[in-house]
Amino acid sequence: MEKSVKLVKGDYMNSRLLFEIAVKSAENSYSKYSKFRVGSALLSKDGEVFTGCNVENASYSMTICAERTAIFKAVSEGCTEFQKIAVAGSGTDDFSKPCQPCGACLQVLSEFCGDDFIIVLSDGEHRLNEFLPCRFNEDSMNT
Ligand code: THU
Repeated sequence: MEKSVKLVKGDYMNSRLLFEIAVKSAENSYSKYSKFRVGSALLSKDGEVFTGCNVENASYSMTICAERTAIFKAVSEGCTEFQKIAVAGSGTDDFSKPCQPCGACLQVLSEFCGDDFIIVLSDGEHRLNEFLPCRFNEDSMNT
């Protein structure tokens, strides 16, 4: 599939479609150790979709999650403003159980996204604030 899907500016990306792109992105998951495939689809403010998957490593802690893969891809291409992210994860072919982003990914998302940023899981839309009500940000360093 396309690495990034450019929509006409202003197009509304349906959350269900974004979730399906996340499921599709999980096909590229490199998860030979956990066998848990995760895919993500990050929608920018101007309608571009950046996909991601988890990439594991024999040195386990070097693994990167699907969400951070997508956000780092986007930022490295100059895109820093986002509407929502869809996340799909499963150890089988059934992606119906919600796969909530880990704390590290939520912290990275919070660098670029506000409280109302939408996180789409298999059970619907959530807000960043719901999963990460407190976060370390640049204000935390201004004493
Ligand atoms: N994983 C993600 O990709 N995203 C998350 O938010 C949670 C966990 C991956 C990391 C690892 O490859 C596998 O899922 C099992 O933890």
